[in-house]
Amino acid sequence: MNRKQLIQKYIEFFKSKNHKEIPNSSLVPKEDPTVLFTTAGMHPLVPYLLGQKHPLGKKLVGVQKCVRTGDIDEVGDETHHTFFEMLGNWSLGDYWKKEAIEYSFEFLTKILKIKKEKLEVSCFKGDKDSPKDVEAEKIWGSLGISKIKFLGKEDNWWGPAGETGPCGPDTEMFVNNVEIWNDVFMEYEKNKNGGYSEAKQKNIDTGMGVERTLAVLNNLNDNYKTEVWKPIIDKIEKLSGKKYKGNEKAMRIIADHVKASVFIIADGIIPSNKEQGYVLRKLIRRAVRYGKELGLKNFTNQVAEIVFEIYNDYQNLKEKKIKTLEELKKEERKFSQTLEKGLNEFNKLTKDKKKLNEKSSFLLYQSYGFPLEMIEEECKKNKINFSKREFEQELKKHQQLSQTASAGRFKSGLADTSEKTTKLHTATHLLNEALRKILGQEVKQRGSNITPERLRFDFTFDRKLTQEEIKKIENLVNKKISESLEVIREEMPLKKAFESGAQGEFGAKYPEKVSVYTIGNFSKEICTGPHIKNTSELGKFKIIKEESSSAGVRRIKAVLE
Ligand code: ALA
Repeated sequence: MNRKQLIQKYIEFFKSKNHKEIPNSSLVPKEDPTVLFTTAGMHPLVPYLLGQKHPLGKKLVGVQKCVRTGDIDEVGDETHHTFFEMLGNWSLGDYWKKEAIEYSFEFLTKILKIKKEKLEVSCFKGDKDSPKDVEAEKIWGSLGISKIKFLGKEDNWWGPAGETGPCGPDTEMFVNNVEIWNDVFMEYEKNKNGGYSEAKQKNIDTGMGVERTLAVLNNLNDNYKTEVWKPIIDKIEKLSGKKYKGNEKAMRIIADHVKASVFIIADGIIPSNKEQGYVLRKLIRRAVRYGKELGLKNFTNQVAEIVFEIYNDYQNLKEKKIKTLEELKKEERKFSQTLEKGLNEFNKLTKDKKKLNEKSSFLLYQSYGFPLEMIEEECKKNKINFSKREFEQELKKHQQLSQTASAGRFKSGLADTSEKTTKLHTATHLLNEALRKILGQEVKQRGSNITPERLRFDFTFDRKLTQEEIKKIENLVNKKISESLEVIREEMPLKKAFESGAQGEFGAKYPEKVSVYTIGNFSKEICTGPHIKNTSELGKFKIIKEESSSAGVRRIKAVLE
């Protein structure tokens, strides 16, 4: 069975059980501000798992592209990937354990024709937060499954995906010791202080790994031998003139990282030094570094070509192909130059020395972008002492400093609290919502800076606005001003704020309790204030400039007349 057949069979099966198909969402989660990437099929569903009504109903099915970089260092073995596809079926407060397990069993044994005897499962063994899952055990038993293990939270509990949110015990299904499917019984919500409370709505969240299942179905003990990887490996073999056997680790890393990068770029991210862009940069650079080991140069584009061929059912990959290849090429070139410069600096710093101290290694790492692994390798090669521990201490010191700095970054960006600044601040909230209404809900604030003279507002959007759009935005803000809307401040727990639909700045770290400002029933934002009391005080809003701030981020400057 191939990838497309597996996906189709899964979706058809659950459709036959009255599930509705949901689209494959972006890798950059819009519905879950607690994570950088979509790491599971449930991310786009977070608001619905928390009780909001889903337009397609209570039973859903779909395939979701995912990126997990938590164990990026494990990529290189047979089964770990940063990019993968996950099949899933969901019950939003509808069916529960019995149906979920029975569906899984039926699909595995009847549709995929996996012999019952080959199936092993694990269930939650119980702890202070939740009892032993004897219910799941009983259901599996009734289906004739006897190989049942009981494990603790590390293994048989899933979620929340971010710091807080829906989670619960799960039951995992294994074939030949490979976990291929996970049914999560989301009956808890984890809160900010680490406790678990009973969820208002009990959900089923499941995840079946496409790559692993393909390997199992095709009797392969190495995921990279399945059709979603093999052509990429073949290409790397051809380009390098080296064999997969003996070079597995480097080739797997290159294949995985290039594939993940292609999907991430196609979803609108470009290499940078923060958030998703930073992860992307790391992936490309790591691929390039391992490419070097195989003697490869200017290769990421050629490897990426194969990714486009394999995933030709992804429309957005097709549309973004040229841009994706360009970004890959640019980053590869930049990094090659970085490596060269870093190597020169390394030679200078270690000339006539026996040790590379933590200040120098941090300089190489931070200012020259020289990867830690390369610092270690070069030291080893040149017999120079280097202490990773001291380097890490230095790194930590700097991270703490920059965390403090970024905590300051999210304090509304006000220059002062004069009346003029305060008015512009309220106008900024109107603008934020107007942008979302006119340009689309995916628009997210990326920063703001307000002086008594003007407001400046950065937001995610990937092209120049048209004159017509600018006019529409202005008009909408002015309309809201003329409606004399009241500005109301409330305090609430962060979770409640997000649940209630309040907007937050992307990537911002908020405290547990936040203040939320609503303007009529138009805008709702987490914000520390200050604001004016009524929009009638604002005057006339005018956009004076619209420009690019950085890639994928636009900047608007506006005034109140
Ligand atoms: N969300 C669950 C997982 O990722 C299904 O395993």
